[in-house]
Amino acid sequence: MIGLIFGPPGSGKGTQAAHVEREFKLSHLSTGDILRAEVARGTEIGKEAERIMRAGDLVPDDLIIRIVQGILRDPDVSSEVLLDGFPRTIEQAKALDQMLAQEGHKVDFVIAFKVPEDVLIERLLHRAEVEGRADDTREAITERMHEYKNLTAKVLDHYRKQGVKVHEIDGLGTVEEVFERIRQVVNREK
Ligand code: AP5
Repeated sequence: MIGLIFGPPGSGKGTQAAHVEREFKLSHLSTGDILRAEVARGTEIGKEAERIMRAGDLVPDDLIIRIVQGILRDPDVSSEVLLDGFPRTIEQAKALDQMLAQEGHKVDFVIAFKVPEDVLIERLLHRAEVEGRADDTREAITERMHEYKNLTAKVLDHYRKQGVKVHEIDGLGTVEEVFERIRQVVNREK
């Protein structure tokens, strides 16, 4: 089973994916976490990605596609996966579809969060105070929202057109309340 957890910056993708991973035994694969780990280790990929991420832009498609390809081809990685933060462009979605088709798989469902922008900004600025993530500055948040609206949001239509179920979830409320909505959806998909 391949699921996508989708939504604008701060909508709760990482938070909820961790819950889904625990309860439904889907491996949570976050391209943002992978890139941050590369930056922290000072690898070549990390050096290439750091400045782009800090500005709130998307890293190049070919770079992120190579990373995901490497992981999905790894025989130790389960075929039950929840992708968080990927695909983020139509190019990435097409590459993912191709990778999965080679293994006889496809995207089974999409969970897409809806959260008003003022709440997203409030959450990210709060996290900036608590955790100091490099891209939680006002400028980078504005750019991340812009990239989401211009490049990423249209990925949902790409999957709708293929007949993949896109479950729009209200991302407001407590973490537990939101997870309860997701639980109902994933239970239906299993
Ligand atoms: P990524 O790490 O994917 O960041 P993002 O999409 O900007 O999302 P966030 O991690 O900020 O938010 P989230 O939706 O996961 O919410 P979270 O659970 O953390 O990507 C970072 C960067 O990497 C990109 O900008 C790009 O440069 C690069 N990148 C990654 N993937 C890429 C790709 N495929 N292609 C190209 N570039 C790529 O929650 C946010 C905050 O809200 C937390 O503090 C949390 O505790 C809080 N919160 C969560 N739920 C609730 C709730 N219900 N109520 C109150 N607070 C809540």
